[in-house]
Amino acid sequence: MNWQSDILKNLEWSGVIINLEGKQKVANEIATRVKDGDILGVGSGSTVYVALLAIAKRIKEEGLQVKAIPTSIEISLFCAKLGIPLTTLYEYKPDWLFDGADEVDPDNSLIKGRGGAMFKEKLLISSSPKNYIIVDNSKIVKKLGTNFPVPIEIFPPALLHVEEELKKLGTTELLLRPAKGKDGPVITENGNLILDARFEEIGKSMERDISAITGVIESGLFINYDVEIVIA
Ligand code: A5P
Repeated sequence: MNWQSDILKNLEWSGVIINLEGKQKVANEIATRVKDGDILGVGSGSTVYVALLAIAKRIKEEGLQVKAIPTSIEISLFCAKLGIPLTTLYEYKPDWLFDGADEVDPDNSLIKGRGGAMFKEKLLISSSPKNYIIVDNSKIVKKLGTNFPVPIEIFPPALLHVEEELKKLGTTELLLRPAKGKDGPVITENGNLILDARFEEIGKSMERDISAITGVIESGLFINYDVEIVIA
């Protein structure tokens, strides 16, 4: 039996999609890579959402059998709305993954997590043999940290310990990410907090150094991952 849900029917992207034209170009490009039978790891964010629209169109027109492993509730709901069947890492390993990014440097290292989903995004990227990062030109930077802070997901009771340790790593500014639509801080899908941390320099060991702090679940730094960047 299918749900007769107005929530799904009326679901829209929750804000203005900036650089929509660039995102559409790269979305159409990634949609052409979908093959019948694929298990897709699906990242989060507005670029991924635009790509899902393009993939759903192909699924409908060509009758493709595709399953998606999502990285967030937001993307799960859009897959449900668009008729893209969902599955899990318990059942399948993804054939390939697509995801967006906030920054991409010349070594293809990334900052991700503006949407707060970096933990599951990292889990999926680590599980998938082939990863496409789909971005418009505005995401390309010479140096990580140029436009975005590094988001860090933290087990709540560890917040002040993690603050102390991040200061030792040289953070220049820390913001406990505030919620919009609830009082107080953002609570992630895993029940944790997010600190947005700025650094003057983000060296090659920074991802490992941050992960080594007790209480850190994951950061939005993706340094030297095996990813192919697809740019609009
Ligand atoms: C989600 O947590 C993020 O990692 C997104 O992939 C990233 O913020 C890019 O988002 P947009 O595609 O909305 O720019």
